[in-house]
Amino acid sequence: MTQVIVALDVDTILKEEELLKSLKGTITHFKVGLKLFTAHGKRAVDLVHQSGGKVFLDLKFLDIPQTVADAVREAQRLGVDAVSVHLWGGTEMIKAATQVQPRPRIWGVTVLTSMVGKDVKVLHPHATLATLVKNLAKMGWVNGIDGTICSGQEVADLRKSLSHLDMRFVVPGIRPAGGAAHDQRRTMTPGEAAKLGIDYIVVGRPITMAPNPLKAAHDILREMQAAAPSSLEAT
Ligand code: C5P
Repeated sequence: MTQVIVALDVDTILKEEELLKSLKGTITHFKVGLKLFTAHGKRAVDLVHQSGGKVFLDLKFLDIPQTVADAVREAQRLGVDAVSVHLWGGTEMIKAATQVQPRPRIWGVTVLTSMVGKDVKVLHPHATLATLVKNLAKMGWVNGIDGTICSGQEVADLRKSLSHLDMRFVVPGIRPAGGAAHDQRRTMTPGEAAKLGIDYIVVGRPITMAPNPLKAAHDILREMQAAAPSSLEAT
């Protein structure tokens, strides 16, 4: 079943409230990321909870192990459902994060969906983007993460090459066919994601910047339903 997480990448509490109000009953998972959390902190998280939604706190933790473990502990106190960590932080950092108990679900970022091969070459001249994603995903899973964040384009290969791991996927960079890509590069349509049975898709601007966000959300859900009638969980 594929669930939609709407990325609340807005700058005011008023805009957040409007989105939550218009999407209530259609979407239950919301992402609070760097923009909204930096501007409004706990209040932005509490608003989602008050409207009955679940929060994915996407602050992409990347720091020394103790600092990341402490941040995961604080996220638990905020009551969020999930947080993200950059798998680039390495084995010790991931272990420190996943060993926190109780804790939110931890989703590991492999390579940002705004990056392409040449970006990776600058950092790792001898690794391809695909190899890097695979190695990071594997390291995350053996150290206890609950979901891999990657491009939809990588899911089939990861499932095949790491078939011994029961991976779940969280996929941003979702763009309805013909929609603007913005800064995303490794994109996939909602229909393709539903067909692949991706667990969560993260959708921001195609919904939040639409003239009618509720209609945009319904269009995406309809596209998913048409592509994979049995694999959609609407909320
Ligand atoms: O507006 P758009 O649909 O591109 O939003 C995608 C969201 O997913 C953004 O909030 C971005 O921070 C997040 N994200 C991403 N790529 C990743 C991880 C998270 O685009 N690898």
